[in-house]
Amino acid sequence: MCGIVGAVAQRDVAEILVEGLRRLEYRGYDSAGVAVINQGELSRTRRVGKVQELAQALAEMPLAGGTGIAHTRWATHGEPSERNAHPHVSHEDIAVVHNGIIENHVKLRNMLQQQGYVFSSDTDTEVICHLVHLELTRHDSLLAAVQATVKQLEGAYGTVVIDRRDSERMIVARSGSPLVIGYGLGENFVASDQLALLPVTRSFSFLEEGDVAEITRRSVTIYDVNGAQVEREIKESEVTHDAGDKGEYRHYMLKEIYEQPLALSRTLADRTANMQVLDSAFGDNASEFLKDIKHVQIIACGTSYHAGMAARYWLEQWAGVSCNVEIASEFRYRKSYMYPNSLLVTISQSGETADTLAALRLAKEMGYKATMTICNAPGSSLVRESDMAYMMKAGAEIGVASTKAFTVQLAGLMMLTAVLGRYNGMSDEMQTAMTQSLLSLPAKVEQALSLDDAIAELAEDFADKSNALFLGRGDQYPIAMEGALKLKEISYIHAEAYASGELKHGPLALIDADMPVIVVAPNNELLEKLKSNVEEVRARGGLMYVFADIDAEFESDDTMKVIPVPHCDEFMAPLIYTIPLQLLSYHVALIKGTDVDQPRNLAKSVTVE
Ligand code: G6P
Repeated sequence: MCGIVGAVAQRDVAEILVEGLRRLEYRGYDSAGVAVINQGELSRTRRVGKVQELAQALAEMPLAGGTGIAHTRWATHGEPSERNAHPHVSHEDIAVVHNGIIENHVKLRNMLQQQGYVFSSDTDTEVICHLVHLELTRHDSLLAAVQATVKQLEGAYGTVVIDRRDSERMIVARSGSPLVIGYGLGENFVASDQLALLPVTRSFSFLEEGDVAEITRRSVTIYDVNGAQVEREIKESEVTHDAGDKGEYRHYMLKEIYEQPLALSRTLADRTANMQVLDSAFGDNASEFLKDIKHVQIIACGTSYHAGMAARYWLEQWAGVSCNVEIASEFRYRKSYMYPNSLLVTISQSGETADTLAALRLAKEMGYKATMTICNAPGSSLVRESDMAYMMKAGAEIGVASTKAFTVQLAGLMMLTAVLGRYNGMSDEMQTAMTQSLLSLPAKVEQALSLDDAIAELAEDFADKSNALFLGRGDQYPIAMEGALKLKEISYIHAEAYASGELKHGPLALIDADMPVIVVAPNNELLEKLKSNVEEVRARGGLMYVFADIDAEFESDDTMKVIPVPHCDEFMAPLIYTIPLQLLSYHVALIKGTDVDQPRNLAKSVTVE
């Protein structure tokens, strides 16, 4: 969701803040704003649109000042407009940026209006700045006023507050939306993601739920939910490369698609020995937790949910444990059955998805035997609150449409299959085959990437289409779902995925020459059945694009374009077939001229319900 950056420094901070926003733009991009304090004056600039609009405005009229806050917005309350853009101010004294939702904002708004406060936006955020202003009439410090304010807020938020009359400090508060403090030399920072601050520091501490912190140039003092002063460990960032840079690539998405061999190598490194996957891939005490597991409940959203769906096939087929997969927003609001000896696995690139986090908390209350997260964000809420963590090490993913995180999640889930399989009677041969397959992934993905040019050509066919159908069977069905999601996310073409056996139960009615049908067809035991499904489409005049194993014996003709995919074994096939589908959606979006990295209405990290 929204991105936040704040700084207290001796130098002018507006440029640092805007650079931070650029790096956070993946979180929201409908408007942006900055406020700084300079010699007792609060100045604010806000613009509708991308951070570049704000940068342009600041280039024309720079803002000086060493204490400041900035925000890039993904609208929840109030349309994207300048008056709704953050920072919000009260009486030209208090300025606030906020990520999340204040659920009791209507009640607070009414109360504040009765006290004479005049609102200038439709946002829930504006109640925070007026409340702080009100509380400052009752308390003698900004810290105390913010502490009193947050006690009245319901909902999820990360917020940063500054006061024109006290430029020495900013107060930050976290409840439900992540905030990270960055430590510099004689200057300190805060942001909703460490990526924002990488140009200025590599030392970070993560605030915990309910924390309020006072940040000055020389000190950071953190108080927990009860107001007691606490220490939060300061760590050097593990982000090894500066992910904020697109390098030679035209888009982050393309860069991230091409980074997959590297990301897979990183995720595999030191996690296998003697052709077996090590339990320690899931954390130091993983063996204790994993040895008695008989059922796995997977919870995730979006692309991560599709990774979980693929894993269900593997865990049941190869690891000998039963598995259910559910979308987090469903799981958290229903009464579900918990099987004995159940492991709860959350999958999340960001580690902060509100629904997934709520589902984890619910599962802990329900008494799951153990909890694990497959996650790309060290220090994130899911990592901190789970018993075990598989750290993906995919590197920062900036493109809103997830690519490398998905394939790395699949690799992590295959490792989980191997480890749980070992506790449930998987043969040594099978473990060796699985491990070998995992280790050859980076090279195979590299090979699959060489399809890029052929797919770019193919993409031309899709530019004038409004719909597309994706078909797959078995563990390729979730891959078809992911392919459809990618296409709709970034090219805005309506796309559906079906398990191809379901074709005749409805979707066949949609088939005509205007409905391209994309088929994923590895050479597995379902190939013959899939071929029958292909014939069903052909017989109805459909135009097909078949991604098929070189040996699968499909041939291109008037009704079917066959794209040969490098031969791969059954373990890695879902991951390998993902690559051409990612490339297809990318090239279609390029031709359609959509905003590849920041598609309309979406955000990368969904920290609100
Ligand atoms: C958003 C993103 C998706 C992502 C989903 C789950 O919708 O746009 O790309 O798959 O959230 O995010 P997570 O960080 O939990 O994997």
